[in-house]
Amino acid sequence: MKDNYKYVSLIYDDFISNLIDYKFWAKYIYQLIKKFSSSKNYVLEIASGNCNLSRYLHKKFTTYVVSDLSLSMLKNCKINTKLKICSDMLQLPFKRKFDIIICSFDSINYILSKRKLSLFFKEIYKTLNDDGLFIFDAALIKNSYHHQKFALKQKKSKKHHNKKREYFYT
Ligand SMILES: C[S@@+](CC[C@H](N)C(=O)[O-])C[C@H]1O[C@@H](n2cnc3c(N)ncnc32)[C@H](O)[C@@H]1O
Repeated sequence: MKDNYKYVSLIYDDFISNLIDYKFWAKYIYQLIKKFSSSKNYVLEIASGNCNLSRYLHKKFTTYVVSDLSLSMLKNCKINTKLKICSDMLQLPFKRKFDIIICSFDSINYILSKRKLSLFFKEIYKTLNDDGLFIFDAALIKNSYHHQKFALKQKKSKKHHNKKREYFYT
């Protein structure tokens, strides 16, 4: 399994997730679930990363499974759970079906072809209950241009680098 976020996982919270109000988005997603889902027992979050969103959502459901392609991201998962599965969202390995599947923070943008996108939706269809709910977001071109002006950042990270200061540019 390719650990695609191996190095990003070292700086993810410093550089990316600190800019996002996960509590707000968790509340919003939960409102959607309350409105559109009849059963709320089995939830699967794919591309969950290091569980920034899950930490606000997981206690609200009977079973909350987190999954990501990157083992390094899952190792930094912020919730204490055994339900962590390292898997590719294009090949979901689950035998059981879920009431709700969540794929947040533009993770669907990692799917780069129509063929793979079609495969992805087939995997979701296979893994979701008949009356299940799939929640995802996507970064579209217009939105990316809008945020491009904020794309130059410089930050320092002391973590994970044996006290040596590293400078990163994005
Ligand atoms: C922008 S991060 C979002 C992480 C998390 N959802 C959040 O809100 O912080 C994208 C995540 O998608 C994961 N990812 C990328 N391609 C994937 C794939 N094919 N299957 C599963 N996860 C994937 C990455 O490993 C990464 O953790």
